[in-house]
Amino acid sequence: MGGMSRSPDNTPSSPEAEIQRVLVPRDRIARRVRELADELIDAYEDGELTIVVVLTGALTFAADLIRLLPMPLRIEPVSVNSYPGQATRNHEARFRLPLPADLEGRDVLIVDDIFDSGQTMATLVEAARTAGARDVKRCALLRKARADLPDRDDHLDFYGFDIPDEFVVGYGLDYNGYFRNLPDVSVLKLHAQGETP
Ligand code: IMP
Ligand code: MG
Repeated sequence: MGGMSRSPDNTPSSPEAEIQRVLVPRDRIARRVRELADELIDAYEDGELTIVVVLTGALTFAADLIRLLPMPLRIEPVSVNSYPGQATRNHEARFRLPLPADLEGRDVLIVDDIFDSGQTMATLVEAARTAGARDVKRCALLRKARADLPDRDDHLDFYGFDIPDEFVVGYGLDYNGYFRNLPDVSVLKLHAQGETP
């Protein structure tokens, strides 16, 4: 089964048709990204920054964010595999594209699309520290409520929105590789409350 339902002639239906409701519309995202950029400018006043972008989901967020940042910065992509196939709950975070070795003495900002169990962020913070980073800060556009994980360390230095415990797509976030191109953050019909498998 693919990420989208298919009509009898096997053409994928439009991604928009799979959306149950918009959770964070594009204009709210844009406004919040501008505020986050201002927070980052304050926090890294005259420093140089290394932004670790967690592929693929944080691509859109990072692309919008970095163009609002005037300080000298470098981008280091990293890839962590946390959702095998169509699973919607996290498993163990594994590197597919490891952190660069030259983080020694650098101020590192980890940028992810969504903070869920926190495993991805914890793995990356640990790896950046081990690589000798001087400072490691955490940034995610979304922070998901997880009542089932009361001991989760949900500290983020910078984040955009708190969202309920629902599976969301759009603005970079995917389900089975699809829906990243939707401009809003939305809940899928398939995963609407009460219907999650
Ligand atoms: P964590 O390691 O459980 O915090 O999960 C973080 C990663 O899981 C993110 O980088 C996302 O790729 C993915 N993820 C978590 N929740 C969602 C969701 O609702 N939609 C799409 N991807 C998600
Ligand atoms: Mg991810």
